Parts: sequence; C-alpha cells; structure tokens
Amino acid sequence: MQTIQDAAALRATIRGWRAQGHTIGFVPTMGNLHAGHHSLVKLARARADRVVASVFVNPTQFGPNEDFERYPRTLAQDQAGLAESGCDVLFAPDVSAVYPFGADKSVSLHVPELTETLEGAHRLGHFDGVATVVCKLFNLVQPDIAIFGQKDFQQLKVIERMVRDLSLPVKVMSGPTLRAEDGLALSSRNQYLSDADRALAPQIYEILQQMRDLIAKGHARKVVEQAAASKLERAGFVPDYAAIRRAEDLSEPGESEQEGLVALVAARLGSTRLIDNLLFD
Ligand code: PAF
Repeated sequence: MQTIQDAAALRATIRGWRAQGHTIGFVPTMGNLHAGHHSLVKLARARADRVVASVFVNPTQFGPNEDFERYPRTLAQDQAGLAESGCDVLFAPDVSAVYPFGADKSVSLHVPELTETLEGAHRLGHFDGVATVVCKLFNLVQPDIAIFGQKDFQQLKVIERMVRDLSLPVKVMSGPTLRAEDGLALSSRNQYLSDADRALAPQIYEILQQMRDLIAKGHARKVVEQAAASKLERAGFVPDYAAIRRAEDLSEPGESEQEGLVALVAARLGSTRLIDNLLFD
C-alpha cells in the first residue's frame, strides 16, 4: 500500500488506474481506525478494482468546544491496518492540500433541512464541514463508489443528499455498524470512556432496541422518545436526543407510522459524546 500526501501525486496515480480501466472505491476517514472502518475498506475492495482510503482530521467539522486537538492521530497504526484490509492507497493530506486558502476561508457547503435537526441542531456547522470536506475529497479522489458507516446515519443521509443535489458522479454506499460483544457501537471516541462509563455505554444500544420494540407494539412515538431519554438520564447519561425518524430523510413520522423508521440517540457520558442508531426493519 502506498501513502500519498500530495494532491498532484494522488491525481497522477488515479489517472494511471483510469487509463487501465480500473474502477475506484473510496473510504473517507479521520483515522484512528477500528474494525468498523476496516469492514468498509473490505466492502470497497469487493466492489471496486482499486481502493483509496483517506485519513484527514477535518478541522471544519469540529466546533470551538469540541475535540479537534485531542482527536487521536495514529497514522502508523492506520497504515498497517489499511494495508491488511486491502487498501491500495492511503491519502493522508495536510490541511493546505484540502484547504488551499485556509480552513477558515474555504468555500462552505450547506445541505438544508437535513442538517438542521438532531446532530446538526447540537453541533452547529458540523455538517457544513462534513459536506465540504467530503465534496473536496471526492473531487481529489474521483471515486466511482464511496462507502460510509451507518453508525453516522445522519452524515450518510447528508452525503447522499449532497451527491444527488450536486450531481456528483459517485455512488454512495453504506456498511453496517460494528459492535462490541456487549452491543456498544465501535467508535474512535470509546477510548475516552472511563472504565465505569464504558460499562454503562452499552445501555444506549439496549435503549434503541427497546424503542424499536415499543413502536412495534403500537406505543406512541413521543412517549417512546421521552421514556428513552428518561432511561438514559437515570442510567447516568446526559442525553442530547432520543428520537424516532423516517430513515429516508430523518423527517418526523406520524404517530401511528411504523414502516421505514430509525431510532437515533446522542448522549454524553462524562466528557464523551456517543451517538448510535437502529434501523427498524
Ligand atoms: O465520518 C468521518 O470520519 C468523517 O466525518 C468524514 C466522513 C471522514 C469527513 O471528515
């Protein structure tokens, strides 16, 4: 596996692959990779001739009080894992390759509506940063397919919408959330949890499953959402939301709607903010 930092060198490699008629799969990441990321690389490997993964901790998607500085940077470890998962090129640009005029002076994309709820309401500007960097990375890598984890469900929806709205020639695909044995969704942020909080954290997944089961039994959506938030609070979390939405566009379903729904939770344990979701199928 080759590691490329420079945009021109990346383009030259991509041109060479294109000349040979190869298709390109892309997995954008912020590094500190775990089995969930590697499963996305393997999916890309199965669906495209060549696989590019990026590691770029994107400054524009972090708010002023978020963990940009302390976000773990583990490039050597990521390189080893990516090579093993079948990645051909790791693109690891520095900020100036992605934001030539500076991150604070960049063109910024805003995907309306979808970004104004749930995560977007609690992390102002977050999805503008995500949409902007993903669009830039797509322009640099020019992939045929790009694969994102379902764990960041709203992010997946935002990117699907952006790609469609901007007519980008990329097929967006998703891979399932990988979980620890006790149900906790794999996330780079889990390592910030104290032992006591790590023991509590799987309750998020239990509560998501309860939300699904209660809706299937015909309970009213708002009551289920409130009960889930109270359970989280009683367990020691500080919930930002526990919501049931239409999976297609994250709009609010009618009280008796049961098809095509997703439950989403964001909650803090100590200084760590965890998110998870569960599709009702
Ligand atoms: O999900 C992530 O790791 C990031 O939000 C992404 C998609 C790589 C954009 O920086």
